[in-house]
Amino acid sequence: MGLARVAVLISGSGTNLQALIDASRSGALGAEIALVISHRAGAYGLERARRAGIPARVVRPRDFPDRASHERAVDELLRAHDVAYVCLAGYMRVLSADFVHSWRDRMLNIHPSLLPAFRGLDVHERVLEAGLPVTGCTVHLVRPEVDAGPVLVQGVVPVLPGDTPERLQARVLEVEHRCYPRALRFLVEGRVRVEGERALLADERPGERLVLHPLLASWPGAG
Ligand code: GRF
Repeated sequence: MGLARVAVLISGSGTNLQALIDASRSGALGAEIALVISHRAGAYGLERARRAGIPARVVRPRDFPDRASHERAVDELLRAHDVAYVCLAGYMRVLSADFVHSWRDRMLNIHPSLLPAFRGLDVHERVLEAGLPVTGCTVHLVRPEVDAGPVLVQGVVPVLPGDTPERLQARVLEVEHRCYPRALRFLVEGRVRVEGERALLADERPGERLVLHPLLASWPGAG
């Protein structure tokens, strides 16, 4: 049997896409990134895909009369490329309930907060405004409600004195890049079972669903 075929949907720089490509190349993913779709022609992630020799397509909403026909075009591409799983990686468009249902439990998203806290945009600004000592990221199965759905993996990142949204974003991204391949691997290995709104992992070992920022290994608060 061949490797599971995965599509990654992007809008921008595609650093998470790169992490998935790298994990796939190293054999750590057990899946092949078979297609990249962007809704913006200028997304740098397209360049990453081309460099990796992965088919990359631009499907621009403005080329379609409405959202349904745009999504149909995306869906047709996914099926034409024989894709089994979809990863949203900075895909800045809300998907319709129909589209989400047709990929139910086969579509992942990554969000730069510890969901269910801080859904939506400007997460790092809001974490800093709230004065929290900790933040992180979440990889979850996609549901029609934005930034909601059964959680597979979370990454924990300390907020440091003097942090700016940009510094915090960079630190969270480091952990995102470790969380996303891990969550996708769980899914393609068939270890994920969904029970209500919870994702359960078969034969789970302690810590498997948790990634800590490297700073936390020697954190004074530990222990
Ligand atoms: C990430 O922070 C991700 O969590 C959010 O959008 C950003 C995408 O970054 N959904 P990149 O394009 O993968 O670099």
